[in-house]
Amino acid sequence: MRILVLGASGGCGKEVVKQATSKGYEITSVVRPQTEYEAHEGETVLRGSVLDKEFLQRAVKDVGAVISCLGLNRKNQTNPWSDIVSPVNLTSEVASHLVELLSPKTKVVVISAGGVHESFSETNLMIRFLIRTSSLGPAYRDLENMEEILHDSDLDWLAVRPVTLTNGTVTNKVKITVRYSLFSTISRGDVAAWMLDALERKVAFHPHTEMIRA
Ligand SMILES: NC(=O)c1ccc[n+]([C@@H]2O[C@H](COP(=O)([O-])OP(=O)(O)OC[C@H]3O[C@@H](n4cnc5c(N)ncnc54)[C@H](OP(=O)(O)O)[C@@H]3O)[C@@H](O)[C@H]2O)c1
Repeated sequence: MRILVLGASGGCGKEVVKQATSKGYEITSVVRPQTEYEAHEGETVLRGSVLDKEFLQRAVKDVGAVISCLGLNRKNQTNPWSDIVSPVNLTSEVASHLVELLSPKTKVVVISAGGVHESFSETNLMIRFLIRTSSLGPAYRDLENMEEILHDSDLDWLAVRPVTLTNGTVTNKVKITVRYSLFSTISRGDVAAWMLDALERKVAFHPHTEMIRA
């Protein structure tokens, strides 16, 4: 099966492509023209904008599933109060294009975040403070809108809601969690492995959201 990977140049996206190609999947990935990126064997890299619907229409051709690791960039990624430099509707706009372009029941697995929608009430005080006061707020609103657009679609979709991301190794000890505590973490490699494994499930996604931690 050919998988379309959006956000392939990001921390989680690179992990998805690395793991998927080593498992023998064929990958089409979308990378922005200006972003440095090295392709893997078995990967076709398309350069363009995920917000360009005609470009995306060419990218989804012949793919059996889509994984999106898109997320908003800040000027300084390590500072939550740094200004957002991506369009603030990036993930929701892409979701609405995918809904129009993909056949019903196509499997779509996207990265959302622990704390989105009803999971907000299960987060720790620090995350709540950041969502309320920093650039995380608009980013979470975009992810909420993305989930709502997918919710109203005919796609077979799953929004993976990781807790705090790390660059640690793949542990394969990921579990679904209800609570997002102060010390909850998960590596980008584990997130990628969870997303890829999700594509191999034989039944349709239900529920459509999973908060995960290692
Ligand atoms: N950090 C956390 O603790 C945490 C926790 C839970 C959920 N999340 C969510 O998980 C997402 C993925 O995490 P990550 O570490 O893999 O993020 P990342 O490394 O920042 O990757 C973001 C991806 O989105 C792409 N992107 C950003 N703006 C774009 C635009 N205007 N057009 C096209 N592509 C664009 C980036 O492309 P370029 O490389 O071209 O910029 C990159 O491929 C985050 O964005 C966040 O929403 C994060």
